[in-house]
Amino acid sequence: MKKRLSLALQQDLKKNPLKVKADSLVFGVNEGRVLNPLSSKIDKATNGVIKKLAKRKEFEGKVGQQAYIASPDGLSAERLYLIGFGKPKDSLSNEDINKILNSTINSIKSSKSKNTSICFPSLKYSSNSHSDSWFLQKMSTFLESKVYTYDAKLNKKNKAINHLKKVNLYLDSSLSLSKQRKALKTGQIVGQGVNAAKDLANLPGNICTPSYLASTSRSAAKNYAKLSCKVFGEKEMKKMGMDCLLSVGNGSAQESKLISMSYQGGKKDDKPYAIVGKGITFDTGGISLKPGATMDEMKFDMCGAASVIATMQVVSELKLPINVVGVVASAENMPGSKATKPGDVVKTMSGLTVEILNTDAEGRLVLADALTYVKRFKPKSVVDIATLTGAVIIALGHSTSGLMSNDDKLAKELLDAGKKASDKAWRLPIWDVYQKDLESNFADIANIGGRAGTITAACFLSRFAKDYSWAHLDVAGTAHYKGLAKGGSGRPVPLLSQYLIDKA
Ligand code: BES
Ligand code: MN
Ligand code: ZN
Repeated sequence: MKKRLSLALQQDLKKNPLKVKADSLVFGVNEGRVLNPLSSKIDKATNGVIKKLAKRKEFEGKVGQQAYIASPDGLSAERLYLIGFGKPKDSLSNEDINKILNSTINSIKSSKSKNTSICFPSLKYSSNSHSDSWFLQKMSTFLESKVYTYDAKLNKKNKAINHLKKVNLYLDSSLSLSKQRKALKTGQIVGQGVNAAKDLANLPGNICTPSYLASTSRSAAKNYAKLSCKVFGEKEMKKMGMDCLLSVGNGSAQESKLISMSYQGGKKDDKPYAIVGKGITFDTGGISLKPGATMDEMKFDMCGAASVIATMQVVSELKLPINVVGVVASAENMPGSKATKPGDVVKTMSGLTVEILNTDAEGRLVLADALTYVKRFKPKSVVDIATLTGAVIIALGHSTSGLMSNDDKLAKELLDAGKKASDKAWRLPIWDVYQKDLESNFADIANIGGRAGTITAACFLSRFAKDYSWAHLDVAGTAHYKGLAKGGSGRPVPLLSQYLIDKA
């Protein structure tokens, strides 16, 4: 995975932040009249700028507040940014920390600095599951993933200038330096995973095909001794009885692929954790064709797959002492003379037959066979990740992923991991009352039904996940941004990585 930043802890900042040469210094300041020793050094050197700003109520040090001082006197850094940390007595919530980190990255980005120094005061947390190590991990994920730019397909002269190259960091903490370093490194690796998922998401559908995902997975596996990759083409899938998965790619010239990655970091016989991603590299809807507006965004219909491929790299890079299986079910959903039609009935690998009432409900069809396929690994848990339904956006918007599960314990672990990593999910029910929406007159089940679209989609998947502890993440609203910021978000790589880190 590509490392975009160099991150270092720098004790010099503690001794004398005035003397550290950098394009910019981002300095955390508490609210209140009494400055801590570092702040008063800065204040003195700059002719009392911190106190002056506070007096004029321009910058009082409230959580997340920002102030910019160009060419400050008395400092070696060329620009000074002040970031508010609130009163030193007050403990900070997850939201407060996010505000602080957002202001920090905004400052760095607007400064166009190549190298920046960050100097933060000691922190108190409102949740006892938060600590300096949690903060540092989060901060480095944040730094690494927010300086991301995508210009792979632009002409040389239009390439983005990715300014930030180097960050020196000092946090006033009682945590040992080696533990601080470890947290920074973990966070940075997760950030690289987020970026790897964004890169795949952002590629257009004419480049990022099922075969492209397969070759990307294969070359990722070559980088790590403990990571391997197997790819099944259409012939092999036909032999395994995956007619349901194959039915989705029938109208496409692109060959469908099932990608199966395995990371062996644990003991040989340790049961693996499995993650399964929806990899529709373009979703036209098929014969049940989608309307034209924003159809381009259906290139993001492989974001579940991207999160699986990226998380497998994170796990390998972190050398976690567990076993993990990553499966991607990939096809292109196109209309055409060979395409599946509404009313067609196909047989799944599990033996159940499906009446395809709407060819646009294709994600569940590829996942059904992938979920049957992972049974062979006797997994400890299976989490599938899919941009599955527009309905999840109606329910939860673009900030929160939908979570559905047949296991309360697994659901809680994933929700907790999401909270910890600021990559939140919220659980929806998959009670039996919803299951009957999938009844069909012509096959064992139909692929759509009922009004609760996100839930019935998960109910469909649950029919193929009966033999293990399973959860489904619907990331249709969270895996990519829309409008001006259009592009992959790298979610839910932070959630998945945190879940597996906590398991290790
Ligand atoms: N890939 C879409 C879901 C989607 C919609 C993702 C909007 C991101 C943004 C999925 O394959 C789909 O088309 N789902 C249909 C299901 C319906 C036919 C039951 C939907 O949500 O409209
Ligand atoms: Mn669809
Ligand atoms: Zn889709």
